[in-house]
Formats: sequence, C-alpha cells, structure tokens
Amino acid sequence: MKGVSFLATVAILALASSFVSAYDPSPLQDFCVAINDIKSGVFVNGKFCKDPAMVSANDFFFSGLNIPGNTGNKVGSNVTLVNVDKLPGLNTLGISLARLDFAPYGLNPPHTHPRGTELFGETAALAFAGLSSQNPGVITIANAVFGSVPPINLDVLIKAFQLDKNVVEYLQKAFTPN
Ligand SMILES: *[C@@H]1O[C@H](CO)[C@@H](O)[C@H](O)[C@H]1NC(C)=O
Repeated sequence: MKGVSFLATVAILALASSFVSAYDPSPLQDFCVAINDIKSGVFVNGKFCKDPAMVSANDFFFSGLNIPGNTGNKVGSNVTLVNVDKLPGLNTLGISLARLDFAPYGLNPPHTHPRGTELFGETAALAFAGLSSQNPGVITIANAVFGSVPPINLDVLIKAFQLDKNVVEYLQKAFTPN
C-alpha cells in the first residue's frame, strides 16, 4: 500500500512539472532610439525612446570609425567608443563597439567593463572591440586605485600593494586627475 501511494505521488508530481528554461526576454520592439527628451515618456533600458514615427536612418549611423584616434598621450593608445551616447539606435540592443589605435609600444591599460563582456580583434596598430552592452562602462585599474577622488588611504595602498610610501605618493600624483 505504501509503495502504491509513493508511486501515485511521484506520478502526480511528474504530471505537475514541465520543462522550463530561463533567459532574458527579447526586446518587445524592434528599436527604441535613445532620446534625451524625458517628455517622450517611453523609458526602456536607461534611455527614453524617440517617437518611432520620428526615427530616421541617421539614428543608426555613426561616421568616423575610419579616422585614427590621436595616440600622442601617456599610454600611447586611443579608444574611439561607439556606445548608445554616440549612436542612439543602439538603445536596448545590448551592443556597442570601439576602435583602438596604438602608437608603437602603446597599450590599453588594464581595465574592466562593469556592464559588459568584450570580444577583441587586433592587427599591428589597430584593434576593434565588440561589447555586450549599449553602455559597458570602463574602470581603468591604475586610475581607480591611485587616482580616486577622494584618495584611498595611504596606509591601505602601502600594505595592499606592498609598496614604499614614496612610491604610493608618486603613483597618486601621477594618476590623480588635475
Ligand atoms: C583620442 O583621439 C581624439 C581624436 O584625435 C582626441 O580628440 C582625443 O583627445 C584622444 N584621446 C586621448 C585620450 O588621447
């Protein structure tokens, strides 16, 4: 008898369950061109949507990716980022891209993108990156650690990085924005 009720319970549970899968919902609209006018009233993914009747091809156009950025700076590189702020048609589409130019021995300093993962392809002096966010953000490690305003406590940096006080002060001076 016990076995029968156990089987019945399992059968009922099996009937009550179904296969499920979870994923981000697809956008319900084909596009939602970002607009700064809050009176537009349609708010998706952090930006207001332009009235679809007013959308034009230009909202999906960015020119200038063919132009090298100026690499005459301390790190010898230049990032031309095309995110939702530059190309409003990217709003809600979850992508952006960047052109990176490098001077000889130039580099793109270690950084993270808090809201995106990055796919990177490069040649000798030029690289392109695709990012999984319309606005991936960037945190450049050295600037965030040594150039934060207000600064991170000197003793913390000395111990955390096992550095001499003079070295930390030197780095803070180098990275703190003027
Ligand atoms: C990148 O290049 C552009 C265009 O030449 C320039 O305006 C900008 O200041 C450069 N950025 C850096 C960080 O050097």
